[in-house]
Amino acid sequence: MALGPAARNARPAPDGLRGHAAARGLIYGAAVSAADIGGAGGLPGALATECGMLVPGNELKWSRLRPAPDTFDFGPADAIHAFADANGMLFRGHTLLWWKQLPAWFAGTATAGNAAGLLETHINTVVAHFKGRAQSWDVVNEGLDPKSDRSDGLAPSAWLDLLGPGYIATAFRLAHAADPSALLVYNENNMDDDSGYSDRKRAQVLSLLTSLRDEGVPVGALGIQAHLSATETTINPEKLRGFIGAVADLGLKVIISELDVRDDRVPGAPADRDVAVARIYAAYLDAVLAEPNVIAVVTWGLSDKWSWLNRYWHRKDGLPLRPLPLDADLTRKPAWRAMMGAFDAAPNRPGPG
Ligand code: XIL
Repeated sequence: MALGPAARNARPAPDGLRGHAAARGLIYGAAVSAADIGGAGGLPGALATECGMLVPGNELKWSRLRPAPDTFDFGPADAIHAFADANGMLFRGHTLLWWKQLPAWFAGTATAGNAAGLLETHINTVVAHFKGRAQSWDVVNEGLDPKSDRSDGLAPSAWLDLLGPGYIATAFRLAHAADPSALLVYNENNMDDDSGYSDRKRAQVLSLLTSLRDEGVPVGALGIQAHLSATETTINPEKLRGFIGAVADLGLKVIISELDVRDDRVPGAPADRDVAVARIYAAYLDAVLAEPNVIAVVTWGLSDKWSWLNRYWHRKDGLPLRPLPLDADLTRKPAWRAMMGAFDAAPNRPGPG
């Protein structure tokens, strides 16, 4: 008999983060790349111990998946799915539609006349490929922008130019038709701070989700990316909980979908930096996990060795960042213990949704 989602997520490794999460009905997972799973070293073992779900970091983006308008390359994403499946993990898809990481051919090929067809083919093909095998899909990524001059707050995007503001609803309807069993997620960034910018983003997100719900669009969850900073993130637990509660009132779940904590400006030795990073993990997760509609936490990577942040952020002392639960040698850090503590303290969920 096939294992149901709860059993898959929980098995085995009771001492890993996956076990601590599953004991509360939560899912813990991480973003990975096919190359890193296939490479030498202990990463596959650490993933199997710690993670109840995997998400490809880049392999399902248009730029990687669709090298030409009529060609799909599922190989690397399939390798991640196979590894997840072999280790009893769930699989999550990221992302069906984004204004970034489009293939080089897109700008010269996509027109107002063919864009709807390109999107329909994409979502039908990709979601059907993983039908019944994906816990969730990030259907639309980063659609809103607090600096937008539009009243609906939509971010500048080729999709907006080509298809108009209805592109978000269209994408969700196509994804639902292709796999009615997958949880469909609107994924967004910069909603975490106690700042005017995050206030505006949260208001834009609630307004978008409300209109999608009112139009009967099959959105099931909000993905909160949560790329945090040990020095810049300002956490207001009441505000975060109020926002997540308002999302729950719309009937939607929440996935913390890309959590990491930058330490590019934390002075001192690695041990001190790790404490500062862990403090943010604890404060953030304690706040958001108090809301029962938060069903999953995904970090954007598992080990510091493979964090994407090192390509974009640099420390004055030239040392690499330490933003994730495991260090470059796959040793558990204070951030790992902060996550474990937050999972252990979280109220019980009815089960992975
Ligand atoms: C990142 C990848 O991790 C990098 O390897 C790539 O160079 C850029 O994109 N928000 C998202 C993710 O939704 O897709 C991004 O992933 C990180 C920010």
